[in-house]
Formats: sequence, structure tokens, C-alpha cells
Amino acid sequence: MNDIYIPQSEIQKQLNIADSLKDITKGKKACVITFGCQQNENDSERIAGALEMCGYEITDNSDIADVIIINTCAIREHAEIRALSEAGQFKGRKAADRSIKIGLCGCMAQQSHRREQIYKSYPYVDFIFGTDMHHRLPEIIKTALESKKRVSFITDKPHNEFGVISEGMPVRRESGYKAWVPVMYGCNNFCTYCVVPYARGQERSRKKEEVLAEVESLVKQGYKDITLLGQNVNSFSGGCSFAELLDKCASFEGEYTVRFMTSHPKDASDELIEVMANNPKVAKHFHLPVQSGSSRVLKLMNRKYDREKYLETAMKIKARVPNVSLTTDIIVAFPTETETDFADTMSLVENVGFDMIYTFIYSPRVGTVAAKMEGQIKREIANVRFKALSDLQNDVAQRLNEEFIGRTVRVLSDGYNKNGIPCGRSSQNKIVTYDKYVPEGQFVDVKVENVGAYLLNGKII
Ligand code: SAH
Ligand code: SF4
Ligand code: F3S
Repeated sequence: MNDIYIPQSEIQKQLNIADSLKDITKGKKACVITFGCQQNENDSERIAGALEMCGYEITDNSDIADVIIINTCAIREHAEIRALSEAGQFKGRKAADRSIKIGLCGCMAQQSHRREQIYKSYPYVDFIFGTDMHHRLPEIIKTALESKKRVSFITDKPHNEFGVISEGMPVRRESGYKAWVPVMYGCNNFCTYCVVPYARGQERSRKKEEVLAEVESLVKQGYKDITLLGQNVNSFSGGCSFAELLDKCASFEGEYTVRFMTSHPKDASDELIEVMANNPKVAKHFHLPVQSGSSRVLKLMNRKYDREKYLETAMKIKARVPNVSLTTDIIVAFPTETETDFADTMSLVENVGFDMIYTFIYSPRVGTVAAKMEGQIKREIANVRFKALSDLQNDVAQRLNEEFIGRTVRVLSDGYNKNGIPCGRSSQNKIVTYDKYVPEGQFVDVKVENVGAYLLNGKII
């Protein structure tokens, strides 16, 4: 495991480069724009931390930034188009001021066909770096500032050689009370539709001591909601099982909550369910992506469980963890999906009773097995299935939330929502609105009076 850790001498070299940049970067601003999942959001916090260490002031406003980094996602075509169109926004700005530096990183940068497109059609992107290069950011920035040509820091290594872990680089957290803590990186599952194993490389875990030290320090700093991150957290192999790690992370002194994302159904263990049931600091929320309710489609997806196994796990969670919220991801219109397969997905949704579903229309990804499968489904059919599933889920979620009426839930305040109403999140990660403002990051008890499909509303008691 040790050989994937970046040696401290390399980290020190980067810290020295960062120091040497401070004269040049004085008074300059940098902006990081993020697309994609929580992993990417956390990566952006690390990128911003490194930029700050190089002397930049971090801003949300790209119009006034001297360095702009676009952290991209490649999970579906829509995500890629959004990132490319964001990059396109800077053409005029770059033409007006050649000294501005524009960088692109993240999962899209890791894909060679997208890189070629960027090289050809986005000449104003000055530097590109891969998902395993964050610890070299000071060096990347220095090279980009000194070079007149485009700079590229990418390793296009095969899956089993790819991937590193670095400790000791700064993190600039977006929130003062909610924090992401990665426990493992990469993915070995190769679901046939998914780009993540190619974009993020093979699974590798941080050491449990590093994770525990980070969580303990966050709790001491007053963080109240900590999410342990990984594409498949149950594959954690940094010195103990993930269930044990979770239990330990949720055993420091103080009132706070620990969550995790994501658990693959094939190895959502009994041990993990027990930790959720028994440890009051572990949030009562299980995100367990099912992808399809049809065993035939699950097989084609290479998910390594079938409908029955998933139902068994879901029911076990519901039986063992009172008031648990179960959420999932579903892909509709996977190649060859028939009306019967789709009916299986609908009936599974009905039977399990998910609090929330993230539904996606299948998007073929270059280089994946499913993209080459026969029987790709027409968009019109996909749209109809997407709508039917969303309608069903709205009814299911409304029904489940009605059970909360009259109950009291503990809520971590997020201040106001965008309509100026006091709001926060419950342990189940449900959005809760209430009658009186509470400062961000404080816990309150709310008695629920009425509900929507994705909202609980009540009064503070
Ligand atoms: N590691 C997580 C998922 C990460 S990707 C897990 O295995 O559960 C988040 C979600 O995006 C997936 O659960 C899947 O539902 C969706 N997704 C991934 N690839 C997709 C594709 N090619 N088209 C549509 N949705 C996709
Ligand atoms: Fe993608 Fe499957 Fe890995 Fe999740 S488990 S990241 S869906 S390959
Ligand atoms: Fe997107 Fe990469 Fe996350 S593809 S979903 S940013 S791991």
C-alpha cells in the first residue's frame, strides 16, 4: 500500500515551489469552477487550498480572477457539455487579456478523446492536469505561468498502474460546519456503463490513522456534519473494515454526525448496517444505488447482485435502522432494456419505498463496454420511462414523508434557503424548513407539521 503514497520529500518540494511563487502572485486572484460529484467538490477544495498556498486569493467570481481552473466531470454527456461550454465562456476574456491562465482538470481531462478536442478547439486553455496530479499543483501553476505553450500534466497509464495518494497538502473548505473526508479513491468495479474506473484509476485507500486524525481535527474545529467519501466505501482497505472506520469516526466527543457515500449493494455488509443501527452519531441515511430492478439488466451492467439480493439488503436496512432514509440511483434505458425490465424497476421502487431517487437516462461513454452494446434505446422511449419513474417516486416519497407528521426531528441548520426561509437537514438528509432563524451549523429540534415529497416543515421546539 505504501508505494502509492507520495513521499513527503515530494510534498515538501511542492510546498517550496508554492512559497517561491508568492512574489509573483501577490494581489492576484484564483477561481475554481466545479462540476460533478462530491469527490470532485472535495478535489476542488484541495485545489483551492494549493492555490491559496501559492499566494492567490480565492474568489467565486471568475470575471476578476487571474487563474481559473475548471474541474470537470465525465459521468454523462450532459456533464461534459456543461464543462466545455463553461470553458468556451473564457475565449473572449483570454483574447482581451493574455496574462490570464485557464486550466482544466478532473475526469474529462483524463479522457484522451476529450483532451484532443480541447487541444484542437479550445486553444485558450493553458494547462490541463489529471485526477492524480493535485499534489503537484504548485509545480503546475509555476510551469503554466512561465510557459508560452500549453502545459499538460497527465499520466495515461493503464488502470492497474494509475493512482496515488497524497497527505499533507492544504484544504480550503467551502463550509465551516460540513466537511468531506475521502477514505478511498478510484474504483475496480467496472460497471459496463461507467467511466469512473478509467477516469479515477484503481481503488486505493488512505490509512485509517490519516482518516481518523482528519475527522478528529474537524470535530475539534467545530464541524458538525462529516461525510466519508469513496466510489465504493466498503472496499476501504486502509487497516480495518469500513464499518469499523465509520464507527471510530463517529466516536469522538461532541455532537456531530457522520455520513458516507457511496456503498455498492454487493458489499453493503451486515457489520455496516449494525454500525448505523447502533451508533447514534452515524446519520440514518443509506445511499444504495440499485441502477435497475431487472436482474437481466443488472447482469449486463456487471453489478454483481440481482434483484432479490438487493431487496434482501434494502429490507434488512429498513428492519434494523428505525427511521432510516434509503436513497438510490437508477439508470433508465440501458441498452436492450425492455418494457418488462422497466416494469421490474418500477415494481422494485414501489416495493422498497425509497425516500429519494436520482434517475438518469443512460448516456453512452466512450471506451466502456455498454457503449458498444447492440440495442441502444431511443431517446423518446427513455424520456417516457424517465417521466414514469419520476411520477411514481414523487408519490412514494410523499407517502413516506407523511409518516413524519407529528414527529420531532433533530436538524442541523443551513441558515436560510434561497427563498429566505429558515432551513436545515435532518439525520436522514431530508430538507427541513421551520419558523425561526437558527445560525448555520447549530442543531435544533423541529416538530414536523406538514410535508411535501422532498420537504418536511414544522416548528422549532
Ligand atoms: N460509485 C457510485 C456511483 C458513482 S456515479 C456507485 O457505484 O454507486 C453516480 C451515478 O451516475 C451512478 O450511480 C449511476 O446511476 C449514474 N451513471 C454512471 N454512469 C452513467 C451513464 N453512463 N449514464 C447514465 N448514468 C450514469
Ligand atoms: Fe462506476 Fe460502478 Fe464504480 Fe460506481 S461502482 S463508480 S457505477 S464503475
Ligand atoms: Fe463525475 Fe468523475 Fe465524479 S466522472 S461523477 S466527477 S468521479
